[in-house]
Amino acid sequence: MTVETTEHAGSAFGRQGRAAVLRGLGTYLPPRLVTNEELSRTLDTSDEWIRTRTGIRQRYWAEQGTATGDLAFEAGARALKSAGVDAVDAVVLATSTPDHPCPGTAPDVAARLGLGTVPAFDIAAVCAGFVYALASGASMIVSGLAARVLVIGAETYSTILDPADRNTSVIFGDGAGAVVLEAGSPDDPGALLDFDLGSDGGHKDLITVPAGGSRQRSEGPESDPSRFFFTMQGKQVFTHAVTRMGASSAALLDRLGWDPASVDRFVGHQANVRILHALSDHLGIDRDRAVVNLDQVGNTSAASIPLALAHGVDTGGIKAGERVLMTAFGGGLTWGSTAMVWPEINVV
Ligand code: ACO
Repeated sequence: MTVETTEHAGSAFGRQGRAAVLRGLGTYLPPRLVTNEELSRTLDTSDEWIRTRTGIRQRYWAEQGTATGDLAFEAGARALKSAGVDAVDAVVLATSTPDHPCPGTAPDVAARLGLGTVPAFDIAAVCAGFVYALASGASMIVSGLAARVLVIGAETYSTILDPADRNTSVIFGDGAGAVVLEAGSPDDPGALLDFDLGSDGGHKDLITVPAGGSRQRSEGPESDPSRFFFTMQGKQVFTHAVTRMGASSAALLDRLGWDPASVDRFVGHQANVRILHALSDHLGIDRDRAVVNLDQVGNTSAASIPLALAHGVDTGGIKAGERVLMTAFGGGLTWGSTAMVWPEINVV
């Protein structure tokens, strides 16, 4: 496959003697397990189709009344516990299913976590949101604006799925993951070594919730309720996902001087196991080095990367001292990659 080179503005990471270092990781999944069989009872689909076309076997959906901020709060509390801290200088929350269009979800989560009046804001970069949020938190640390940042990725896609649409309903799950970043040295295990980020708004319509934002006003008050549902042109998105994450990962590895064969663990956005295989093959990373948990949780959008990291650690697939490459892709289009040498941490 031909892959475009991702343009980037260069990176300050590792060049100023100060880096953002991973100190804690926590996750949360809502209790309601939804199997492929359950979905097959109401949709024209089957466990066999979902498993073979996506790799997904089950996902978790929040109960009515549970919002993204509730999942973010749980994951954030676990990340603070994992890091052994009870205060941070900022909270960055990646989500495309915020509690409300206004205000942001992060201030409420920060307040509920007892973090006081620290700056707290949302990032809307869809499934690439967590990598964008890591870059924002790390930038605050590297610039000296903060010494410790809580970065959360949380979603409740079940609230925006059209229950009658088999193209999207079978794919997405709810969940949250969070990390604590702290100021340290670029040589510390857990230092975020660099970032490659990008977007292509020319394809914004491939993944969209048409209504619910300021564009909706021009559609009049009789706007079709179905326009509040999530839509995705799956086949085209598949190609962009492989192309963009492939180019972004390759650009990052090149800048780091990491040979693909030296990557111990590859943590790609958990959208489709076929995408992860295509990416591994394209990059020249053994398929068995890819962390896969989408079979358990589906595509959890901005929560995907931290949930996959925790799964990798829990199952022994990610160990301290290993080189970990992370890459994500989502609506926007947006994409982003980062990398670290895995630190000694306890996942909660
Ligand atoms: N059950 C049974 N049949 C289905 C289902 C289903 N759940 N969904 C679609 N089909 C049918 C389609 O209707 C189509 O039938 P037709 O040929 O009669 O028209 C056939 O299966 C093939 O459909 P495709 O869309 O071509 O299926 P594909 O193999 O591409 O798989 C999928 C669809 C899983 C969505 C895949 O394209 C994919 O994973 N895309 C990438 C998703 C992604 O990367 N998302 C990341 C970003 S998401 C975000 O940012 C929020």
